[in-house]
Amino acid sequence: MSVSHSGADAQRDRYAVVGNPVAHSKSPYIHAQFALQTGERVEYERLLAPLDGFVEHVQAFHAAGGRGLNVTVPFKLEAHALAHKLSPRAAAAGAVNTLRFDADGIFGDNTDGFGLVRDIEVNLGVSLEGARVLLLGAGGAARGVVLPMLERRPREITIVNRTAPKAHALVEQFEGAAREFGCLLNGGGPHAVVRDPVDRDPVNRDPVYGDPVDGDPVDPTPYDVIVNATAGSLDAALPECDERAFGAGTLAYDMMYGAQPTVFMRHAQALGARVADGLGMLVEQAAESFFVWRGVRPEGAPVLAALRAQLAAQAA
Ligand code: ATR
Repeated sequence: MSVSHSGADAQRDRYAVVGNPVAHSKSPYIHAQFALQTGERVEYERLLAPLDGFVEHVQAFHAAGGRGLNVTVPFKLEAHALAHKLSPRAAAAGAVNTLRFDADGIFGDNTDGFGLVRDIEVNLGVSLEGARVLLLGAGGAARGVVLPMLERRPREITIVNRTAPKAHALVEQFEGAAREFGCLLNGGGPHAVVRDPVDRDPVNRDPVYGDPVDGDPVDPTPYDVIVNATAGSLDAALPECDERAFGAGTLAYDMMYGAQPTVFMRHAQALGARVADGLGMLVEQAAESFFVWRGVRPEGAPVLAALRAQLAAQAA
């Protein structure tokens, strides 16, 4: 690990992304663009930590004057354990993607969910307020986005996972927050997708589904937003999901991205949905990390456009 830095950069505050692997990370490019855009004097590098050496690497970076880190696979849980203080969204996620070295200790945050919400609402122009949202997956990526989505006050979030008990556990974890934000939260295995409730019971707030459609009292109706938070796209696997959840008014969002549309995106498109990949989420989580460190909020959109052009060039 290199901890030296040149005289020219001596007045720049140092940040980095730490992971294993980390060579592919677009974060150095994104943060260099943010620094240019905002005039903040920062430098941003890559840190490859051995799988059993995360804490030592973080400590060495801090001791060498580092001000903060982005944390990527597979260290987000270790970063959560290392932080002395956590933001509420990092506590809810159980994982940390942003560390800031403060005078009184290490602050841990998680900007992934914020990045997703901002990409959906600002870059893609789809409001989550009052929306019906289907979240596919119940692992770390899914857990990280539930609270930031609830804060936008959707009407309903359904969490569907191949392994139903993990979806039930997430529903249980967030049911207090869902009540606070007036959101109906439910979920289970692949067949837990539901119909748009026509009303709520005024006393216990349970959903009222109205007349059965096609004889099935919970015949699913399309969701406004479907987010694929499963690790499926990594190995081109399509998470099982009732096709009736997808419609012409659905935004189907894959947290993954690549030079080509993912298998989930192609599936959703074939079912008539509008599709998006996770490149915008990547840029927007970075913008929020930059804000956590610097108190200055960069514009994600121009950096997203530049990255999109780079990906398109790769695909050509
Ligand atoms: P991450 O931190 O990326 O979310 P994780 O915690 O291992 O990783 O969770 C992976 C998620 O992707 C889980 O919801 C997993 O489903 P299970 O809980 O049933 O394992 C889901 N997943 C992975 N591969 C999948 C596949 N081929 N089809 C459906 N879901 C899949």
